[in-house]
Amino acid sequence: MPVFTLPRRIYYQRDIIDNLGDILRNEKSKNVLIITDRNIMSIHGKRLESSLMNFNFKFFDDVKPEPSIESIEKAVDEINMLDIDTIIGIGGGSVLDFAKSVAIKLSHPDKDLRDVNPFEPIDLKLKLIAIPTTSGTGSDVSFGIVLTDVDRKLALGNYELVPYISILDSSLTPTNPEIIRSTGIDAFVHAFEALSANTSTIFTDALAEKAIEIIYKNLGKAMRNDEDAKDLIHLSATMAGIAFSNSGTALAHALGHSFGATFHVVHGTSVGLFLPYVIEFNSSDEYTRSKYEKVARILDTGDIIDKIKEFYDSIGQPYRVKDLNIPKNEYIKMIDELISKSLQDSELAFNPVVVGEEDLRNIYLRAYGD
Ligand SMILES: [Fe+2]
Repeated sequence: MPVFTLPRRIYYQRDIIDNLGDILRNEKSKNVLIITDRNIMSIHGKRLESSLMNFNFKFFDDVKPEPSIESIEKAVDEINMLDIDTIIGIGGGSVLDFAKSVAIKLSHPDKDLRDVNPFEPIDLKLKLIAIPTTSGTGSDVSFGIVLTDVDRKLALGNYELVPYISILDSSLTPTNPEIIRSTGIDAFVHAFEALSANTSTIFTDALAEKAIEIIYKNLGKAMRNDEDAKDLIHLSATMAGIAFSNSGTALAHALGHSFGATFHVVHGTSVGLFLPYVIEFNSSDEYTRSKYEKVARILDTGDIIDKIKEFYDSIGQPYRVKDLNIPKNEYIKMIDELISKSLQDSELAFNPVVVGEEDLRNIYLRAYGD
């Protein structure tokens, strides 16, 4: 059944975190659990504490990257707080995944997280609030969670895990230009993939087109820590997140996931690198090409691929593997493995053009650069 899911409310403004207490009063929350990590806690802990005066709240700040099911179960045992009505996740993708998972376990202690799937209701018993501290992942508005189960990665999802509320405050985001670039490019690719995915709709198209335009025009300024540009990038990352969460990510993610894992390149840089080749490949489909042409008109260009490469050059995002100083012989040696990992990637199912092994090989080879 076609359905479009997004948070019930999005609060947004720079420094709005200082009014978290007012937001919680507005939402009639009383007993609040805040999930975060040590890094965020050391930077923003005091600020959060002072905005939460008069609330019964507790911090849990021991979230590690790619959280394990075991660590979530342990956390739930430790939390022991009566009548939690609200869980707030403040952090990047891993923290928000952790917060979603704790919300499931506190609602249904006997539920096995491995059984979460898109088709069976979860029935959360508490309000889930997401406060993202990077501008890119879209986890504050997405239905997915990625967990580690012993040594395998589990990608699970259910639309009830789309947070009830998202709070967007760009004052929480990093000042490091490299992180701003890689996370912003991730959002840029989310928007392109949401737009071209075979599950796209007019709802997701509208959000994706606008996010592409805003990120294109503002990411360079945001990297120089222009506050207005950072506000816009933070909001457009969430717009792109709503778009891909209701549509899909596709071939650039399937290529970038295996490339990033093999050569230890961060997610946004990896998926961004392959985007120009994916646009070229997907342009063989007439309807998808017409969508790219629409974006080209928005960006005031005749050639969307040239425009993206020019944009990448202006911010230092590579579009050739050789620019990452990966030797050609090492890259070629790994191509079969890259292809087989990409073929197993579930994101491929959303690509508008069917992708075969030889297509992947061609793209991987061309992406190295001459
Ligand atoms: Fe992504």
